[in-house]
Parts: sequence; C-alpha cells; structure tokens
Amino acid sequence: MTAQVGQAESALRTAIDGRCAFQVTRDAADAALSAELARWLAPEGTDVGVGPEGVVDPLGLARLVVQEIRVVGQHFLTPERLAALAAVRDRYDGRDPYLDSFLECVLDKHDGRYWNRTYLSIPVLDVILGENPLLPSGLAALLAADIVRYELCAAHRRTPVSPLGRPDARTLRTRLRHSLRFMNAHLGSAVSDDLLGAIARDPEADLPALLLDLPPALAAAGDWLELSMQPVSTVHDEYFFIRVLQAHEMAFAGMCWRTRDTIAALRDGQLDAADRLLAQVVTFMDRNASLFRIVATLRYEAFHTFREFTDGASAVQSETYKRFEGLCGRPPSARLTSPAFESVPDVRGEVVSGQDTLSDAYRDAALADPGSAQVTRIAERLRALEASHHRWKATHVTLATRMLGDARGSGYTAGVGYLSQWVDHRLFWQLPA
Ligand code: HEM
Repeated sequence: MTAQVGQAESALRTAIDGRCAFQVTRDAADAALSAELARWLAPEGTDVGVGPEGVVDPLGLARLVVQEIRVVGQHFLTPERLAALAAVRDRYDGRDPYLDSFLECVLDKHDGRYWNRTYLSIPVLDVILGENPLLPSGLAALLAADIVRYELCAAHRRTPVSPLGRPDARTLRTRLRHSLRFMNAHLGSAVSDDLLGAIARDPEADLPALLLDLPPALAAAGDWLELSMQPVSTVHDEYFFIRVLQAHEMAFAGMCWRTRDTIAALRDGQLDAADRLLAQVVTFMDRNASLFRIVATLRYEAFHTFREFTDGASAVQSETYKRFEGLCGRPPSARLTSPAFESVPDVRGEVVSGQDTLSDAYRDAALADPGSAQVTRIAERLRALEASHHRWKATHVTLATRMLGDARGSGYTAGVGYLSQWVDHRLFWQLPA
C-alpha cells in the first residue's frame, strides 16, 4: 500500500513536470458530434449498419457525446442536441444494449425521468456486468482506479488549481491514498500494482488503454466504463464524486448477492459456508468506509456548484442500499413508509412480497441448533455487520452536516434531520441486540 502511494506520488511529480495535453474545444466537440449524428440520422431508407463493422458505431457516437458532456455538462446539452439523440434512440432502439442504456442516461432530463440511477449511469454499468465475466466488486475497484487516472491526468495537464478546478497537492494526495486503498482491497495487490504502474507511466492515457494489460474480463470493461460518466457540470470534483457513488452501488450489489447466498446456506444447514459468506459481507461493509474518506476531500464550493443541477437525483433512491437492508431483515413499517423505501418502489415491492431474510434464516438456524459454536460465530458476524453499518451511517451524517448544514436533501427530504432520524435504526432490529 505504502509502495503504491509512493508510486502515485512519483507519477504526480512527473505530472507536474509534464507537457500540456491536447484538449478539445467546445466548437470542435460540437462539430464532431453534429457530423456523427447526421450520419446516424441519414434519411430513412439509407443503409445504416450498426456496430463496429457497420456504417455507424455505438461506441464512436457515445464517445463524441461524452466528449461534449465533458466540455459543457450534461445539464447544458442544447434542446436540439437532445432532440437529435432522442431521434437516434427512436430509430435504433433495441439494436445494441450498450447504446440503449447509454441513451437512457443521457436523455433522463429530456424525458423528465432524471434520478439517481441515470445520474450515476447505473444502466450502463449493469450492461457491462451482464456482458463480461466481471464481479461488481471488480467493477467497483476499476471505478476507484479511474479516480486515480482522472486526477493524475488533470495534474499532468496542469489544469488550474481552484475551488472548481483541480485540487491542491495535499487534497489530491488524500484523495489518491483512499482511492488506492479501496481499489487495492477489491482487486488484490498484483492487479492493482499493474494498473497503477500503467497510470504512472502514462497519466494521460485513457481508461481503455490502461486496462489493456489487465486480465481480459477487466480489460473488456474499459470502453464503456469510460463512457459511464455523465456529469451535469464541468466542476472538476463532480467526476470523482460520481465514481465514488458508483463504487458504492457496485459494492452494495456485491453484498446483496452474498447475503442471498448466506440465507440459502443457512436454510440448507450449511453453517460453515454461511459463516464464510457473511464474513465477506462484513469485509465489504468495512471497506465502504474508504468511500467516505475519498468524499471527505470534496470541496464545499464545488459541491454546491454542481448540486444546483442534480435536484431530483439523490442516494435516497439507491436501490442496492435498500435491497441490502431488506435482505438483512424486513424493515419496520415506519421505515417502509418513509422516503427511504418510498423512493425505491421496486425494492419496496420485493420486501413487502415477503422475501426470505437473513434475520429469519438466522433465527431458524439458531432454534434448530441452539448454542452451537457455528451459530455463535454467525451471531458475532451479524453483530459486526450491524456495527459496521452503524459506523457508515454515523460518518455519512457527519459528512452531510458539514456539506449541507440546514439545507434540504436533493431527494427532497429534510436533509441532515432525515438522516439523523435513522442513524440508530438497526438492520437486525428483530433480533436481540
Ligand atoms: C457531500 C456528500 C453527501 C451528502 C451531503 C449527502 C447527503 C445525503 C442526504 C441529505 C440524504 C437524504 C436523502 C436526500 O434528501 O437526498 C442522503 C441519503 C443517502 N446517501 Fe448521502 N450524502 C453524501 C454523500 C454520500 C455518499 C458518498 C454516499 C455513498 C458512499 C451516500 C449514500 C447515501 C445513501 C445510501 C442514502 C440513503 C439513506 C437512507 O435511505 O436512509 N451519500 N445523503
């Protein structure tokens, strides 16, 4: 770990001595995308084959859209641009899952269905997971790696240090240190070292190029992973903020399937397997603390500048966070009727349909085999999970208090008051403490 931070710092020093990079102007981005859209929207009847071998390529179009978004911010795409992209969607819907998911996100504000899931490009990440033999935790690590790449690239380009631009060296070091820690924990040190070495060698390389030398499942994620980033603004810090929230979604997705497997193992009487899986869930929950340490480097002014354009998209709509909570135990009715679950109707539906939970499966296992060493060990894991989840909530409130004060949340809750109300609510409230 220390060696990795040293490597990142030496890349940073190289970056500060480095050359200035090519940057796309607003006019160039606009012209390139307009020309590409004209090809996609050639008069009906023109033969427009889709795909790398065809006349038009979804990856090429998405790259140009993202390039423009980086220059203007997704919130500022013109109505004409959005109308053209909506026309592409109407004409090519169902031809390519990546393109469909990408346009679902770009057009969220245009369609009036802007929310956390599309702000974070989760539909694109879901297609990446579906199309590659990649675990959500592996994807979470790559997202953290991309924070390192993005920050070192900005330093290498010597973009201005300012509240809305790149951070000072001290803030940058803290941001890198915690991103590396998270990446290393999920990826393992060998792959992390390779990745960091590649970033250090060429801080201006794009993500697909950096991932090329990694195992194929990781490398394959690169193209669309780079395009799963649609910040509403051009504020520097919004980039890493989005990546952190995406990594959080992926980490909780990994915790959900492990929790389901734990429940199944308990039901099958496979207590050792249940214990092993639960230990992994606790480890994942502990690692999520790094995400707040990364976000603690978010600058107040930057946050309040981009937040003006994220109203309606809030982590209160996080489906994986609520799905995990519901799998741990059925929440009490006060929670099910609070913004926490009212903001995620699909997950609420799963919960009220009477799905099996960790609380119920543990209680039955304990009744079947009272006082056994395995049951005692599992009870300890549940306690550790509860404690880790409680720490997560307490840190979240501290951060939200610092950044928001009395302001309301972007999910239209009372903000800090809403969060504080649930800090002491337990995941396993139906089990004895
Ligand atoms: C500047 C940083 C942050 C602030 C100011 C903040 C603030 C808030 C607020 C006010 C809410 C309540 C819902 C709302 O009204 O929108 C909320 C919910 C939530 N936030 Fe954050 N948050 C921040 C960072 C994060 C990060 C980094 C994560 C994940 C790593 C996160 C995860 C969540 C989750 C999962 C909820 C839903 C909690 C529940 O349903 O009870 N937040 N946040």
